[in-house]
Amino acid sequence: MSPFRLTRTLPEDATEAALRADVLHGLTCSPKTLPPKWFYDAHGSELFDKITELPEYYPTRAEREILAARANEIAQATDARTLIELGSGSSEKTRLLLDALPALHTYVPVDVSESALTQAGHALIAERPELDVHALVADFTAPLLLPRTPGPRLVAFLGSTIGNLLPAERAAFLASLRAVMAPGDTLLLGTDLVKDESVLVAAYDDAAGVTAEFNKNVLTVVNRELGADFGPEAFTHVVRWDAEHEWIEMRLRSRTEQTVKIPALDLAVDFADGEDLRTEISAKFREDGVRYELAAAGFDLTRWFNSPGQLYGLALATPARPPSAPFPAADRITACVR
Ligand code: SAH
Ligand code: TRP
Repeated sequence: MSPFRLTRTLPEDATEAALRADVLHGLTCSPKTLPPKWFYDAHGSELFDKITELPEYYPTRAEREILAARANEIAQATDARTLIELGSGSSEKTRLLLDALPALHTYVPVDVSESALTQAGHALIAERPELDVHALVADFTAPLLLPRTPGPRLVAFLGSTIGNLLPAERAAFLASLRAVMAPGDTLLLGTDLVKDESVLVAAYDDAAGVTAEFNKNVLTVVNRELGADFGPEAFTHVVRWDAEHEWIEMRLRSRTEQTVKIPALDLAVDFADGEDLRTEISAKFREDGVRYELAAAGFDLTRWFNSPGQLYGLALATPARPPSAPFPAADRITACVR
């Protein structure tokens, strides 16, 4: 059995420095924001796995249905020897791809959650002793440093995680991804589609309250890492559909007027009664929009697969033209206002 390899591209103190910078920026902005990658500590990753099984949360099932039906076509179109997966989490749906790719030699799961990578990686090497698994603890919004692996490579970005980036961040992300892709490589991109508002809102506001707990987990992370005194019970999970931007917005609404202390930043943050802290967007897509955003970053959308009921779309795309000039890194786009 080949050993499970895990590379940290970010030293621990860099992660803490990034958290401090994000929290300082986000909580002194108006409106207040916190970026989503901090949801995913070990507990956050567990809660996300629970979300994927909720009756209201259809995207995981819809994406799995497409993969189950189309994995062979995807495999034929790509002929991949390396599968790189961004935001791989539990790698659960990925197994459908791993099973379909006959020439696959190496799997490179990339995630900020080291616990998710370790768990998924150990399970995979036990199930597939012939597969080389090289996990990367990395932030996919920063320039990607990929290990040297055999081509052609298939880069999968599933779960509609791209929808958790703002449009400018998506453009920067896709362009920097394009820059590390070679001719013959393929991108597989999962996108949740625009649909009835009630279906969308329910997916992020489930009856069992798991998504509310997931949303509040970001406060627990800030408490633990920066010594803050957020009381998660002093905030309400709020979900709204922004019809103009076509995204779901998740917020934490302060139940009272309160001041939260963050000793590591030497900061006291005042919340008014009813003031919102914006935590996450989840953009919803249309096929044309996906094609357009891919083209703008130098990709041709070559195949589009819809789930039954048009709930969800999977795009296959190939590098179209040489990448344009280096794009600003997404982490330097510091917009307060969404
Ligand atoms: N692909 C899985 C998980 C999706 S949840 C699925 O489809 O079910 C999003 C995943 O992306 C989580 O595992 C989270 O830890 C990871 N993630 C979020 N932001 C990230 C970032 N900036 N860089 C790397 N991984 C990130
Ligand atoms: N990419 C997933 C989505 O936007 C992530 C997600 C699911 C999520 N449920 C969430 C993020 C709840 C924050 C809160 O659907």
